[in-house]
Amino acid sequence: MTHHTLTAEDKARLDDLRTQIDMAQKGRGELIPLLQVAQKTIGYLPDEALAMVADHLEITRSEAYGVASFYNQFRFTPPGRNPVKVCMGTACHVRGGEIILENFERKLEIAEGETTADREFSIERVACVGCCALAPVALVGDTLHGHMAPSKVEGLVLRVRLEKEKAEREAARS
Ligand code: FES
Repeated sequence: MTHHTLTAEDKARLDDLRTQIDMAQKGRGELIPLLQVAQKTIGYLPDEALAMVADHLEITRSEAYGVASFYNQFRFTPPGRNPVKVCMGTACHVRGGEIILENFERKLEIAEGETTADREFSIERVACVGCCALAPVALVGDTLHGHMAPSKVEGLVLRVRLEKEKAEREAARS
């Protein structure tokens, strides 16, 4: 698993979470609600957030993690700015969705459920996105790409990286 250091933004959000947690009630019944607050505030559950919640409720951190990992509404890695979602519905699956997923994993050097160290990309599998005629389908950010093929993966990743560089150059100029 890629290790993610906290960004300045994450740290500011953790401070915000600290304030919210300090005001929250104690008691085991508060665990799930507080985890939800933490995820909403930060976008995911870094160790620091789990520790804050656990300490407030006077439970162990592993207990908090154990409960959180049981529910798939919680994520432990930061979401990528360009989340890659590979459709694994029936139509996409039979047309090679799994191979598309593997190609993204290899190209980005992360596994499904993970985020690249620069936080540009994350990969996840999703259920049918409703465009079965275009199977296999993948989304990169908000853009849907139909009739995916392994050979298209590299180009899609490159396009995002080039657009980012362009945006950075323009920002530096202004
Ligand atoms: S199964 Fe992939 S779009 Fe329906």
